[in-house]
Amino acid sequence: MQITVTINGEAVTADVEPRRLLVHFIREVAGLTGTHIGCDTTSCGVCTVLLDGTPVKSCTVLAVQANGRTVTTVEGLIQNGTLHVIQEAFKQEHGLQCGFCTPAMMLVTSELLERNPDPSEQDIRWAISGNLCRCTGYMNIVKAVQWAAKKKQGTLEEATP
Ligand code: FES
Ligand code: FES
Repeated sequence: MQITVTINGEAVTADVEPRRLLVHFIREVAGLTGTHIGCDTTSCGVCTVLLDGTPVKSCTVLAVQANGRTVTTVEGLIQNGTLHVIQEAFKQEHGLQCGFCTPAMMLVTSELLERNPDPSEQDIRWAISGNLCRCTGYMNIVKAVQWAAKKKQGTLEEATP
C-alpha cells in the first residue's frame, strides 16, 4: 500500500508491503541510516525513533502504522547545520564510545527533557532503561543528559565552575 510518513519535517511517500518494518522504511526508503538495527527483537533500543514525539522501537512498528504520522530520527536533531544541545552534551561529557547506541539515546533524551526539563538521576536512568549500551557503563550518558538539561535551563555555568 502507498504510505506517506513525515520524517524530520519532510514527507516521504512510497509503496510498501504491509509487513515492512518502520526501521527498514527509515533506512532503506528514506535513506536515513542514523537509526540502527541491533537485536531486531525489541530488546536493545538502538532502533528508537520518535513517533509523533513518543519514543518507539522502530523494529517493532510496521511502516504502515506510521502512515500519516511524524517521525523524528537522529538526523532531525541537527539545527541549521549546528549541533543540537543534546548532541553537544554527549560530546562534552563523552557520553559514547562506539556510538552505536547513541542516536537512540539522544532521541530518548530529547523526549525526556521535553516533558521533564530538570530530571533526577533516577528519572534519567528510567528514561534510558529501554536502551542498552555495551560500552559506557551509562554513567557518562547520565552526565550528558544532566549537561543538556542544565544547558537548556541556562544553569550550566553555575553547575560547572
Ligand atoms: S533493533 Fe529494535 S530494539 Fe533492538
Ligand atoms: S557507546 Fe557503544 S553501545 Fe553505547
